[in-house]
Order: sequence, then C-alpha cells, then structure tokens
Amino acid sequence: MKPKILVTRRIPEEGMKLLEEKFDIDLNDEDRILSKEEIIKRLEGKEALLSLLTDNIDKEIIDKFPDLKVISNYAVGFNNIDIEAATAKGIPVTNTPGVLTETTADLAFILLCSIARRIVEADKFARAGKYKGWAPMLLLGNDVHGKKLGIIGLGRIGHEIAKRAKGFNMELLYTDHDRDEEFEKQYNAKKISQEELLKESDFVTLHVPLTDETKHLMSEKEFDMMKDTAYLINTSRGEVVDENALVEALKAKKIAGAALDVFEEEPKIHPGLIELDNVIIVPHIGSASKETRGKMAEMAAKNMINIFEGKEPLSIANKEVLEK
Ligand code: GLV
Ligand code: GLV
Repeated sequence: MKPKILVTRRIPEEGMKLLEEKFDIDLNDEDRILSKEEIIKRLEGKEALLSLLTDNIDKEIIDKFPDLKVISNYAVGFNNIDIEAATAKGIPVTNTPGVLTETTADLAFILLCSIARRIVEADKFARAGKYKGWAPMLLLGNDVHGKKLGIIGLGRIGHEIAKRAKGFNMELLYTDHDRDEEFEKQYNAKKISQEELLKESDFVTLHVPLTDETKHLMSEKEFDMMKDTAYLINTSRGEVVDENALVEALKAKKIAGAALDVFEEEPKIHPGLIELDNVIIVPHIGSASKETRGKMAEMAAKNMINIFEGKEPLSIANKEVLEK
C-alpha cells in the first residue's frame, strides 16, 4: 500500500505526477487555502505533508502529528513552519531553493526598473486616455543605469541581482554576515554597514530570509537614513519591512517609492500603499514563471520521495534531524 500524504493545494504537474506514483494523496483540489482546522482534520492518518508558504504549520499542528515523516514545503522560505517544533519531533522540513533563484532575481530587477521608470503609472495614464502627445516633462522617472544598488542579504538571489545590475552598469553595495571577496572582485562590489548602504543607495533591495533578526529590518529609523530619491524593492518577506513605517516614509516623501511583491499580512495589503502612485504592488509572484514553478514542484516531490526512500532530500531546513 502506498503511504498516505496530504497535499494542501495542487502544485504543477511536474510534481503531482511524481507524487502520484509513490503516494496515496489526499489533495486539496479547490483553488483556496485550507484553514488550520482543515489541515489538522486532513492530516489524520497521513504519513507526510506537502505544504505551501500560505499554510501556517505551527507547534500545535506539529505536536498533534509527531510521527510525520517529512514536511515538504513548496517554497524556498520556511518561516511558515515552526522549525524548532518540527526538529524537536525529529521531523525533517524540506524546501526548494536554487530552482527559483534566477526567476525571483528577474522579478526584483523588473520591479526596480518599473518603479524607476514609472511603468505602471505610465500604463494607467495611457489607458485612461490621458496621452495627448509627446511632452518634454511627461512621466519623468529616474535612470537605472549607473546608479548605486544596495543589496541587503547576499544569498543566492542577491548574487543573481548583482549579475543583472552589472548589465546596467550599476555600482554595487551589499550587507551580509559574511564578506564575499570573490563577489567583490567580480562585480567591483563593496560590503558596507547597513547604515552606510541605506544612506548611499539609490535602490535598496531586500534578499534576507524572515527571522527574528530580520523582522522589521526596515523601519522608521532606516527610512530616515535613505535618500529621498531612493527606492525600496522587496521580494523577500513582507514582515522584513515595517509597513506602517513604509507608508509614513512614502507619504512624507522620505523615499521616492517602493516596489513590493510581499506584504506584512498577506494577502492583506496596507490601504496606505494602495493609495500611492509611487508604489508598485504585485501579489507575491517572485517565483511565478511556468518553468520555475514546475521545477519547484519537482523538487518538493523529490524531497518527499527521498525521505521515504531513506535518501538525503535535495534541500533541508533542519539538517540536524537526519544526523540523529
Ligand atoms: C517564495 O516566496 C518562496 O519562499 O518560495
Ligand atoms: C534564496 O534562494 C537565497 O538564498 O537568496
């Protein structure tokens, strides 16, 4: 008999077909997020869970199902899972890094260009029939090329951003725990303090995971440090930014604009952001290309299958459980 698993929402076929071969799947095939109660109910009698970043797999759920063989998260981020609780029960939690790096970096750079050149505003303007002919002062934005880009968090995605920025001849600053000398040489980049980065950058892009340390990494004090001509790009996690402080900073024109893929209380979007023209809002689509979502699905499925077959998963958030 195939092991029974819960898949909280249909993922692309590349993953579903691998899972179907190996498991007896309880699939939420409705186009909606399951409630916590539904997850608990449907986990009854299951050996493993395939979760999405919209599923909050907290200690209560984990303590109810301590025998789960694996929680395979269909995302690179795993802040939606109580890793400590899973580790305490010896449950491996796997994720899908690597395959979405370039796609997410693409989006971050697209957002950067779009906010600088007022693409969304310009599109709305044209559609509204307001275009009466070329004009010297119409929708003037800011250059991207030659500007200073501050990368906060030089992980995989941060590195890929640098590659794109280089094509635009941008000057690169970064913060991270570690210095990456090879990166500095390759991109003529400079590691500086967060304060200096905020003070100097024309664009600040966030590429840190959400942790206790990075929650509200950008708040009032940080916006005060930024140039009033600078833009914030966030494709990491909404909670990394104090959204109230961001709205205040935008309204007070402490910064020039923001382009956001993630929000503090997704799917809710701060009403203060919605009102503003100098903000681009997209609904958490960083990894949303057909190719990449297919690869993530395949990786999430393989992570789960590998655990059942006693092999190492492709990526794990709590390696210590395999070492026990
Ligand atoms: C997307 O936000 C992810 O973590 O995969
Ligand atoms: C995520 O893939 C990162 O490490 O930047």
